[in-house]
Amino acid sequence: MTTTLITNIGSLVTNDETRGDGPLGLIEAAAVVLDGEEIAWTGPAATAPAADTAHDAGGRAAIPGFVDSHSHLVFAGDRTREFNARMSGRSYTAGGIRTTVAATRAASDEELSANVARYLAEALRQGTTTFETKSGYGLTVEDEARALRIAREHTDEVTFLGAHIVSPDYAEDPAAYVALVTGEMLDACAPYARWVDVFCEKGAFDGDQARAILTAGRAKGLTPRVHANQLSYGPGVQLAVELDAASADHCTHLTDSDVDALAQGDTVATLLPGAEFSTRAEWPDARRLLDAGATVALSSDCNPGSSFTSSLPFCIALAVRDMGMTPDEAIRAATAGGARALRRDDVGRIVPGARADLVLLDAPSHVHLAYRPGVPLVTDVWQRGARVVG
Ligand code: NIG
Ligand code: FE
Repeated sequence: MTTTLITNIGSLVTNDETRGDGPLGLIEAAAVVLDGEEIAWTGPAATAPAADTAHDAGGRAAIPGFVDSHSHLVFAGDRTREFNARMSGRSYTAGGIRTTVAATRAASDEELSANVARYLAEALRQGTTTFETKSGYGLTVEDEARALRIAREHTDEVTFLGAHIVSPDYAEDPAAYVALVTGEMLDACAPYARWVDVFCEKGAFDGDQARAILTAGRAKGLTPRVHANQLSYGPGVQLAVELDAASADHCTHLTDSDVDALAQGDTVATLLPGAEFSTRAEWPDARRLLDAGATVALSSDCNPGSSFTSSLPFCIALAVRDMGMTPDEAIRAATAGGARALRRDDVGRIVPGARADLVLLDAPSHVHLAYRPGVPLVTDVWQRGARVVG
């Protein structure tokens, strides 16, 4: 196995408070040794062991690769017109999902796979090294299974979202669609997926339907996660905590008891500021969640309708400016927070034994990710020990 020493790191975010300062476990003048696909050593550069090859970081800041725990990349088509209408005052209703369903059904496997690869590459250039993605734009047994099979070619973190909206084919009989999702569709999709998700919202699936879908998924070995409380108050968050879902995603409209439930349970509150940005909606209150003691993740929600960004640096800047997060909290949420939302210990931290996913920034400190919004600061990315950007 080849070892690589990355040295002369101006400041290193380890996300391990036993290793450095504060919750980010910051080490100044640091070095990291990679051994094959894993981190072998971190610490002050002055005490670093020798390695087969060396890379001089030139005083740049280093952070763990971002962990994007929420995206919808298996899609075709474009919704520029809908975005334009919103920016002229129209509100977001999620009705546009049907436009993407039609385009996705009409696309070839190759087109869909190329689309996923394109957005993954885009995200990687911006520092994302772990990616979750979902189905949800097929809504037939064949199209949902196809979406997951294609997603699985690109990532292990695959989520079955047959319950994105009631399929237009079942508009007159939503109960029959729930029966399909919990029956034949789940059977066809479960082999490709790790997670099961539901859009629990007025106009999509109510609390009882969501519970039926998530418990059916769990019986097939999938762990729940929930699109919860995005457009309105509702039962999604409480249901997610009750079912010990890995995360409740969006969390824009929360009552005090929703916040308490998240603070007490193991369900991560995943915030998706790209969606509020692109729908001109009210921001989720990250400060309230953090002060209550909830674990917060930040993810892209990358999809052609409500949040067409793959950039976690952009989401970090929004979360700091508009959601009450400090830069440290936002960076932690986009790395270790995303890892918690995927129930992973091997990513989101730069510690011995973790996966060798590391990002260098053209900046002396990780804080520049929020301080210099819109500036492409990522210069180098290592993923599983391989230098994939730079
Ligand atoms: O997470 N909320 C539901 N689903 C997506 C939006 C999908 C779309 O508009 O195409 C979301 O925001
Ligand atoms: Fe989403």
